[in-house]
Amino acid sequence: MERTLSIIKPDAVKKNVIGKIIDRFENNGLRVVSIKKILLSEVIAGNFYAIHKERPFFNDLVRFMTSGSVVVIVLEGENAVKKNRELMGDTDPKKAIKGTIRADFAESIDANAVHGSDSLENAKNEIAFFFSQAEIQ
Ligand code: CMP
Repeated sequence: MERTLSIIKPDAVKKNVIGKIIDRFENNGLRVVSIKKILLSEVIAGNFYAIHKERPFFNDLVRFMTSGSVVVIVLEGENAVKKNRELMGDTDPKKAIKGTIRADFAESIDANAVHGSDSLENAKNEIAFFFSQAEIQ
């Protein structure tokens, strides 16, 4: 059993497809352990994506992630990190395989519907970034 963090990004929240995306998780062996809808500040978004601070897309990424509410979710299941990434598809929706979340709900590499932890270690850090111990019992 693993846990991973998913973020439903502002583009998907605005499209009103939160439920459809969660359906993908639940229909593929992942369970919602904890969930909340929040508006990220520039500081919170910048800290969350600190690893990308030097990348040319960093400012656009922070602007986009603070442009509307997001839904942060702790998912649990067998091989949850890998499974979530398979369900999401390629970072660039144009390269994502049909049937993946990004191919079906996203428009561009910036507005790409979802974020998912890329390793078990990052999943632990990202879950702790957004959720208290009491919220993930
Ligand atoms: P995400 O999985 O949330 O992690 C970082 C985000 O930066 C990524 O999804 C994309 O939405 C965004 N991004 C924009 N341009 C790029 C790029 N060239 N390579 C990777 N990520 C990018």
